[in-house]
Amino acid sequence: SEIYQRGLRYERPTLTFQALEWEPQACARLSAEAKGYVYGSAGMRETSNKNREAFKKWSIVPRRLTAQREGEGHGGGFPVLKKRIFGEDLELPIALAPVGVLRIFNTEGEVAVAKAAAEVGVPYILSTAASSSIEEAATASGGGKRWFQLYWPSNQDHDITVSLLKRAKDAGYTTLFVTLDTYILGWRPSDMDNGYNPFLKADKIGVALGFSDPVWRRKFKEKHGVEIEQDEGKAAREWTKTIFPGINHAWEDVKYLQEHWDGPIVLKGIQTIQDAKKAVEIGVQGIVVSNHGGRQQDGGCSSLGMLPHIVDAAGDKLTIFFDSGVRCGADIVKALALGADCVLIGRPYVYGLALGGQEGVEHVLKSLVGELELTLHLAGIQSAELKDLNRGCLVKEED
Ligand code: FNR
Repeated sequence: SEIYQRGLRYERPTLTFQALEWEPQACARLSAEAKGYVYGSAGMRETSNKNREAFKKWSIVPRRLTAQREGEGHGGGFPVLKKRIFGEDLELPIALAPVGVLRIFNTEGEVAVAKAAAEVGVPYILSTAASSSIEEAATASGGGKRWFQLYWPSNQDHDITVSLLKRAKDAGYTTLFVTLDTYILGWRPSDMDNGYNPFLKADKIGVALGFSDPVWRRKFKEKHGVEIEQDEGKAAREWTKTIFPGINHAWEDVKYLQEHWDGPIVLKGIQTIQDAKKAVEIGVQGIVVSNHGGRQQDGGCSSLGMLPHIVDAAGDKLTIFFDSGVRCGADIVKALALGADCVLIGRPYVYGLALGGQEGVEHVLKSLVGELELTLHLAGIQSAELKDLNRGCLVKEED
């Protein structure tokens, strides 16, 4: 209503509320390289397109005359969005997906995003491919909730993994997200056409997090006999190999992370029932049902399409996060209804960052939350809890 009041005073917002416009407006502003990196997807964009199409297959069915009578029905107020995840009270059922090299989109990069997340009250997941150090992003996040995403170095570089985990823990990151779908980068034609690898760019922003790691620096010096500052090009290539080591890990290696991380562990990039069951067996606390926004494997299934199957197989034993294709408040409602406990926002906040820095990220987040709240309200759903928001709130449209 605050937004509509502004309309009464003929005040125009600085940034559009049309979620469909964020992507083209941001892309129009960015360099070809930056646009290719954020908008670009793997191969023919099939996985990426399917992520979007999957949302359109489900429709939210609104209920009417739901006001409470004698203990039954809707309490009447605005919907309750709170969620409890791993013992932490979240004000909203969303968090910011880990996205690397945010300084490409705005000079404040991760710092702006961490501040915006804290301001809006959503957890921020810092990427191992960040253009800020773990500590710098933590300072920016201040009293905000923060989680850490690991690109998992090979078993031969276990000491680097341990160092990253220790730094993250010391800096107040409470949950560890381990991304399993990016041990090598996908076939991304837009980056290849631009001859672009953000981690190897001349200004080295894509390797900031690694360059600030004392164990990695020591190992580099031992191996090459020089400090990273003396051969930054080589160092950048080396860091990229460290965090994208190819197929190196097996399920039993997760125990090394469990030994060195005192807190919840979430495996990101799960797309099958088999892997969800493995995650339960191995004893992690959660998974992210995600295909990396269609940026890794093309010709794949939609992430939303797999969500209900995975929830049926493991939803009562794991906390289920979801991402890939979420663009508006109604999308968040659908993912929650299909059993996600928390939804990760990816590209939309990056577009907000490109359009308006910290304020742009806040604008996008507040828009998504506003629309989420109104969509629930208009459907007669009184909370984001499973008892109120579940598959009964959706219908699958016929093809
Ligand atoms: C990503 N994503 C990602 N994931 C991750 O675990 N670590 C990372 O460093 C990155 N980096 C990254 C960069 C960019 C530019 C994008 C767009 C995405 C994937 C991200 O966490 C999330 O899974 C997807 O963004 C979800 O897809 P949509 O909703 O953004 O299409």
